[in-house]
Amino acid sequence: MSATRVLTGITTSGTPHLGNYAGAIRPAVAASRRPGVESFYFLADYHALIKVQDPARVQRSTLEIAASWLACGLDPDQVWFYRQSDIPEIPELTWLLTCVAGKGLLNRAHAYKAAVDKNTEAGEDPDAGVTAGLFMYPVLMAADILMFRAHLVPVGRDQVQHIEMARDFGARFNHLYGEPEGRQYFVLPEAAIEENVATLPGLDGRKMSKSYDNTIPLFAPREQLRKLVFSIKTDSRGPGEPKDTEGSALFQLYQAFAAPEHAAAFARAFADGIGWGEAKQALFEQLDAELAPLREKYEALIARPDHIEQVLLAGAEKARRIATPFMGELRRAVGLRDLREQHGARTAARAKAALPVFKQYREADGRFHFKLVDAGGRELLVSPGFASPREAGQAVAALKAGTGARAFRGDALWLDEAEVARLAPGIEAGDVIAALEAFAGEDA
Ligand code: TRP
Repeated sequence: MSATRVLTGITTSGTPHLGNYAGAIRPAVAASRRPGVESFYFLADYHALIKVQDPARVQRSTLEIAASWLACGLDPDQVWFYRQSDIPEIPELTWLLTCVAGKGLLNRAHAYKAAVDKNTEAGEDPDAGVTAGLFMYPVLMAADILMFRAHLVPVGRDQVQHIEMARDFGARFNHLYGEPEGRQYFVLPEAAIEENVATLPGLDGRKMSKSYDNTIPLFAPREQLRKLVFSIKTDSRGPGEPKDTEGSALFQLYQAFAAPEHAAAFARAFADGIGWGEAKQALFEQLDAELAPLREKYEALIARPDHIEQVLLAGAEKARRIATPFMGELRRAVGLRDLREQHGARTAARAKAALPVFKQYREADGRFHFKLVDAGGRELLVSPGFASPREAGQAVAALKAGTGARAFRGDALWLDEAEVARLAPGIEAGDVIAALEAFAGEDA
């Protein structure tokens, strides 16, 4: 199995809260550090425009969300971290997908249907106040996912239908345009719903959500965090009376931030009748212990929008090393082609000639090496010396076929827990990944 590509988008329409942290940011940053995973995280600012038409808020939210992910430890050198609107290939792909997307399928999308149902109930025109942006939302999201050939998309349950639609559009495209050459342009993605990730309750005990106005902002200053924690709804039992952990927002929040043995001790304190004031103080301290160091980083980051802008622009460049050549192939696939280009055999021959190549050779020390060289003759990868030509050949075959767990660690390319090559000077992981994609498209 080749590296698993995990991709998710964060709509830039609000300020990150504790629920976003425990449910998305913290698990995603942890997942991005696992070997054999290629992570794509992006700020879905085109999606934000569907619900937020306040430009200052879109900009502020983009800054806050980017700073939050970086403060929480996302390493932009190890992942693809970019802003959707910096990738012009995404709206371009959106149009190609729009032209294969069934309107009837889009009619059934939850968000659009809910708006229509609400209008119908109110006796209004079914589409009153509904923009074409809301209607097209799933197509834009499909472009986000299909562009990078993501395998897994971690999302909440409300988004699962969108992943199914992305599969549908991708499969239709593959069928329409891929079949004659036996080529599957798009990987059909799967939704990854993290069952054991916490859904946090908010101040009032309902799910923490901006729409319920019950959130605790992730990086609220310490004093505000204390105030908010002390405003969490509890029952009227006094100190000394045993308390239920079941259904207690206070307890669930504590549990999401404490080691299991501490949560168990907290549960015993509930049974022993801990006073609510004391319990709230304990929760506040538990939260602050985890958040204070991150908050410090966040504040330093947010004070430097120029730095964050640089990080995002560099991220876009890295992402476009995949998106730009792929979009070129997709344009050709649908017939948006250079008029001088011939069809049939000659085209296929040309495509073949443009492939990168692996070259195997023997050094003076008697060891066996390989290089990956792109179509323009630029060195991308150089292997260390293998004891036999067979070992070098096996690594080459696995890289071409996309088998084995692939991971970049600094300059080194690892395959199944062994280093098989190093990046040539001036080459980045993204260049190699883009080159290896070319083999993925070849007939087996
Ligand atoms: N629609 C997603 C949400 O609101 C955000 C999003 C946009 C997304 N594009 C995506 C998520 C692509 C996963 C993959 O949560």
